[in-house]
Amino acid sequence: MADQTLIDHLNEILKHEWTGVAQYSQASFILEGVWREVYAEKFEGDAKESFGHARLIGDKIVALGGVPVATRNEIQQSRDLQEIFAFSLAFEAKAVEMYSKAIELAGDNKPLVVFLEDILNEEQEGVDEYTKLLRSSGSSVATTPVLKTA
Ligand SMILES: [Fe+2]
Repeated sequence: MADQTLIDHLNEILKHEWTGVAQYSQASFILEGVWREVYAEKFEGDAKESFGHARLIGDKIVALGGVPVATRNEIQQSRDLQEIFAFSLAFEAKAVEMYSKAIELAGDNKPLVVFLEDILNEEQEGVDEYTKLLRSSGSSVATTPVLKTA
C-alpha cells in the first residue's frame, strides 16, 4: 500500500475535482442572457474535464490501495460572468497547487509522476485560459486600452 499521506492528498484532489463537476455544471445551468450562447457550453466542457480527472484520480487511489472519497467542497456560484471567471481562475489555480504537491509526494514513483504531470498540464491550461478571459473582458485596467478623444 502506498504512503497514506499521498493517498490522503489524492483524496483532497478528488474532492476538488467533484467540486469542479458541480461548480462548472451550476455555472452552465444558471448563466442567462446573450453570453449563455457562448459560455454555457464552455462551462459544461469544464465540468466534463473535472469529471474526467475525478475518474483518473479515483481509479488511481484504488490502485494504490486506498478508498476514494465521494464528497465535495462548497461551490462558488454567481450569475455574473466576470465573477464566474474569477471563481474559475481560483479553482484552476488551486488545482495546479494541489497537483504540484501530489507530484512532490509521489517522489521517485516515475509512472505516478508522469500520470500527475499530464493532469497538471491541463490544469495550467485552465489557469492560462481564465487569465486571458479576465483580461479580454476588461476587468484588468492595466491591459485595457484607453481611447482618448480630442
Ligand atoms: Fe481537474
